[in-house]
Amino acid sequence: PYLGDMGWFQMYPPRDEAIRNDMIQRVKNAGFTTLVVTIDVPAQSRRERQIRGGLVQPPRLTPRILAQVAGCPEWALRTALNGKPRMKMIETYGKAVMESVASLPSNNHVGYLLRTAPDHSYVKLLRDAWDGPLIVKGVMCPDDAAPLEGLGVDAVWVSNHAGRQFAGSPAAIDMLPAVKAATNLPLIFDSGIEGGLDMLRALALGADFVMMGRAWHYALGAIGAKGPAHLYDMLVDDLNSNMIQIAATHLSDLPDLLHKY
Ligand SMILES: Cc1cc2nc3c(=O)[nH]c(=O)nc-3n(C[C@H](O)[C@H](O)[C@H](O)COP(=O)(O)O)c2cc1C
Repeated sequence: PYLGDMGWFQMYPPRDEAIRNDMIQRVKNAGFTTLVVTIDVPAQSRRERQIRGGLVQPPRLTPRILAQVAGCPEWALRTALNGKPRMKMIETYGKAVMESVASLPSNNHVGYLLRTAPDHSYVKLLRDAWDGPLIVKGVMCPDDAAPLEGLGVDAVWVSNHAGRQFAGSPAAIDMLPAVKAATNLPLIFDSGIEGGLDMLRALALGADFVMMGRAWHYALGAIGAKGPAHLYDMLVDDLNSNMIQIAATHLSDLPDLLHKY
């Protein structure tokens, strides 16, 4: 009831069949209607800035982190009241995973069984197991996109994970036209959208929907709970004013205008 009919669940594809089936069942029971499977994290990447910043899961209270916490009393109080951030979804699998892959490096256990590099046959498995809309996220090349419609996928999400997974990845916006040409499925786009003009560019290049990741976090970090609504207003303003500059009256005008200018 809490999710209404708007609940999208983003899943990293579990390697282990029992975990996959259990996860899908839990997702269904929780009332999610749309399943998004992220395919662009075949393994953990080295994220130097995160390592340097001491970001680990679960969070560890080192002297440095404690010093930072002391500088953010409101955050510290709220966190003390609500508890440390936890990954409840995967916590359940932690023990089983540890026991079944005892030969792997200790810091890799959960990640190893919870993620894999899915191919098209994996997408078919998910299609058979999930009766609601299925979206594949992290598609960056036409060859990957082309078979998805035939497999019963409902939309393709062009994304390079905000560039944080593979530093050598091309920009998602550069791959969008080729993916568009390879499929008739609706296209969702993200990675690098910073304002209304970027949204306009993505829509003009063939995206049907545009998403943003970091921007919402920045908005929250800057002004708290009011941030996302404020960002939304800024985006609408920016999108409108840029559409006026090019005489676009509807979002559906954008692809044609691209060819006109
Ligand atoms: C801190 C952080 C965590 C993320 N975690 C996930 C994740 O768990 N699953 C996923 O599919 N994408 C994840 N992403 C990628 C976002 O879903 C999204 O594709 C990306 O942030 C869009 O690019 P943008 O930040 O430039 O808008 C994460 C991104 C950030 C910045």
